[in-house]
Amino acid sequence: MEREDGTSVAVVAVVTERRFAQRYREFLEKQKLLDRRHRVEKMPDGTVALPVLGETLPAQLLEELRTRVAPGSTCVLTPLLDPLPSKKARGCSPAQRLCLEVRRWVEGRGVAWSAELEADLPRSWQRHGNLLLLNEDCFQNKQWKNLGPELWETVALAFGVQRLAKRGRVFPDGTRTPAVTLLHGDHGWVEHVDNGIRYKFDVTQCMFSFGNITEKLRVASLPCAGQVLVDLYAGIGYFTLPFLVHAGAAFVHACEWNPHAVVALRSNLEINGVADRCQIHFGDNRKLKLSNIADRVNLGLIPSSEEGWPIACQVLRQDTGGILHVHQNVESFPGKNPQPPGSSKMEKEHWPYPQKIITNEWENGTARDFRRKLLSQATKLEWQRWAESAETRIANLLQQVHGKPWKTQILLIQPVKSYAPHVDHIVLDLECRPEVDSVSD
Ligand SMILES: C[S@@+](CC[C@H](N)C(=O)[O-])C[C@H]1O[C@@H](n2cnc3c(N)ncnc32)[C@H](O)[C@@H]1O
Repeated sequence: MEREDGTSVAVVAVVTERRFAQRYREFLEKQKLLDRRHRVEKMPDGTVALPVLGETLPAQLLEELRTRVAPGSTCVLTPLLDPLPSKKARGCSPAQRLCLEVRRWVEGRGVAWSAELEADLPRSWQRHGNLLLLNEDCFQNKQWKNLGPELWETVALAFGVQRLAKRGRVFPDGTRTPAVTLLHGDHGWVEHVDNGIRYKFDVTQCMFSFGNITEKLRVASLPCAGQVLVDLYAGIGYFTLPFLVHAGAAFVHACEWNPHAVVALRSNLEINGVADRCQIHFGDNRKLKLSNIADRVNLGLIPSSEEGWPIACQVLRQDTGGILHVHQNVESFPGKNPQPPGSSKMEKEHWPYPQKIITNEWENGTARDFRRKLLSQATKLEWQRWAESAETRIANLLQQVHGKPWKTQILLIQPVKSYAPHVDHIVLDLECRPEVDSVSD
């Protein structure tokens, strides 16, 4: 290492016996004294040198290492003549760094590192500020359990975060609550800023889908000035807020039955300065008492919002009607192997809404893979098929609810994200208008 004036600065290390090295390391890390830019080195005599920050350590701290942290250990401060840069300093990926740190920690506990443990390390995660949310498919090996909770501290340190959580599957119980467990840290509240909107929520209690960003942006650009909206599945405000903040909605009725999401929603309305234009309806939206007020209804629930269709029809304005934004997961090849168009009757039909579908893949020039393109065509036909059946059902519901016929029109079928192989999350924009009564002489 060099000073600005070119003279060299020695890297100083604390040297101790190998069996005490892990305890020393943990202590120095806690004291924020461990130099992570240089490698911990094994010395020729079998001792271990842990590089520390600064040019020396107070004698009191050395004494603490010797007597309290690792009683009986030898503790010597020495300059490292030829310090090696750490992997971190050489720019290894977070996954590589994690592997290195966890391996070192595990071995420091006298447990042998194995290919099974390595394969069980996380490959993907979500970063929420200083909280890292791991996917469910890691740390499943029973051996981790025996290693104790300090493991999570090591993982958090390797990622440079203060809190660590791990998710399970989203409960299919309607609340969409992710089974998230906090592994390290004292709370699960995080904050995101999306398109200028602040969202705060507790990751252990409410869901957040990064994949819905395109839909949030689309919603933000809809012409809602002066309109009244009903958001039937408001969550923490993923759509309620863009409708209010960017799309200019006059008022939103936000329905939500998860009390934790309601707490977050209330605070998000406040911190974004739109609480005075929103009423939260806490409880099951199917029991909502509102009717005949909405210019738009957002039905943002997957895999299906079908149970909300009757109430959506009920809240639409009887005089002018309005637009429904209906979310749905559509399976491309329900119950059969994927077949490109050509093998079915659908191939002879043409896609009647070419301008109404937006798929980036299709509109970004030539398709690279012909087979994939054919399969995409089949996928779009499934979306259309579902949209048409939804339109028919909703038109019937509107007639039942309002006691007169309504006209419906598919405005758009908007893909949001691929949810699973052959399952796409899409949104149908359905215009619903009451038929004008014909005047008879
Ligand atoms: C998919 S999540 C969040 C929604 C948000 N629209 C999105 O797509 O990111 C759906 C929300 O609807 C709520 N929910 C589901 N069924 C409901 C019902 N019958 N009444 C009220 N809220 C409901 C869940 O608690 C959850 O917060």
